[in-house]
Amino acid sequence: MSLPSFFIRDLPVYGDTILSPMAAYSDVPFRAICRQFGAALHYTEFVPTEALLGDPNPLWRRLDVHPAGEHPMVFQIFGNDAQQILRAAQRIESWGADIIDINMGCSVPKVSEKGAGVGMMRQPKLVAETFRLLSKHLTVAVTGKLRLGWDEASQNYLEIAKIMVDNGAALVALHGRTRSQKYRGRANWDAIATLKQSVNVPVLGNGDVRTVADIDRLKAYTNCDGVMIGRAALGNPWLLARVDREQLMFGEITAVIRQHLHEAISYYGTQDGLENINRHLKKYFSGLALKPFLRAFQAVQTVPEFEDLLGVMETAVPSHLPIAELRKVPHFELPNHLHSC
Ligand SMILES: Cc1cc2nc3c(=O)[nH]c(=O)nc-3n(C[C@H](O)[C@H](O)[C@H](O)COP(=O)(O)O)c2cc1C
Repeated sequence: MSLPSFFIRDLPVYGDTILSPMAAYSDVPFRAICRQFGAALHYTEFVPTEALLGDPNPLWRRLDVHPAGEHPMVFQIFGNDAQQILRAAQRIESWGADIIDINMGCSVPKVSEKGAGVGMMRQPKLVAETFRLLSKHLTVAVTGKLRLGWDEASQNYLEIAKIMVDNGAALVALHGRTRSQKYRGRANWDAIATLKQSVNVPVLGNGDVRTVADIDRLKAYTNCDGVMIGRAALGNPWLLARVDREQLMFGEITAVIRQHLHEAISYYGTQDGLENINRHLKKYFSGLALKPFLRAFQAVQTVPEFEDLLGVMETAVPSHLPIAELRKVPHFELPNHLHSC
């Protein structure tokens, strides 16, 4: 077995590419696919602490773990009250987490303006108290994911990271943008490099990694321990295995879609599973000449129909066709008998 790339406290992490936590995407089925491509850590979608304190709630599902096991498994939560965050974390600790991560990066106003997500970065005392309590009372490791700060004028990621680490954080992940940038502009990799030099725990760099060359550039430029990949991994889990989508042949994509379908159906059941796979299908087909097929998949009601349509598509589009070619050709049309779909 290969050597760990780094450790989070005493937990070995094998590999340096990591699927970012992404609400509506980084669920049990997609994580299973990404794991197969070597994703080294498994982050859930974020969950608000209030949802974890009362009666069972649909959001609890976000903390499900694949029956085959996922390690190291990171449960990500967010809140704006240290005691409440602690109680939520204590409640979920035994549900399969190896690590509990505090989201301090969410920029959505209904989260950040209430002092949670990136709103926590404006409250250094809350950050100190949260990490102090969690590291004192939990057995599992505690980590956090940050942005650069609230806005251009208040980029306090170094101060917040120091407070986290002084209070027991075992890893810091940094998305190199401020809250006001949202997803605009370029991610600041210099900040990731500076953070890596200033803390003695592993650092994950995040933002604007789209290709294998980007993974290697971000690592070389910042010396970060791992690279978190968000949007570019959607419909493109090969990136986690350091394979660019342009290198694929069409048959490789359909094989993964079939697997993803089975993961989605076995986890969600037929109706929600089809809805789930269709959300990912838009990403798998992004930029490809397959719009008529995408529309037909979205009308499908049953799993056998979905599988039949996959078969029809595989007959229409050669499996050895390079993806780069599938971007150039006019859209592949559905066979005539399917036009009523
Ligand atoms: C659809 C979507 C959902 C996201 N949900 C979360 C989340 O639940 N927790 C979190 O820490 N970040 C979340 N993010 C932010 C990503 O983890 C990541 O930091 C951001 O997309 C920048 O990385 P990228 O340039 O590789 O996409 C989300 C991003 C997207 C696009």
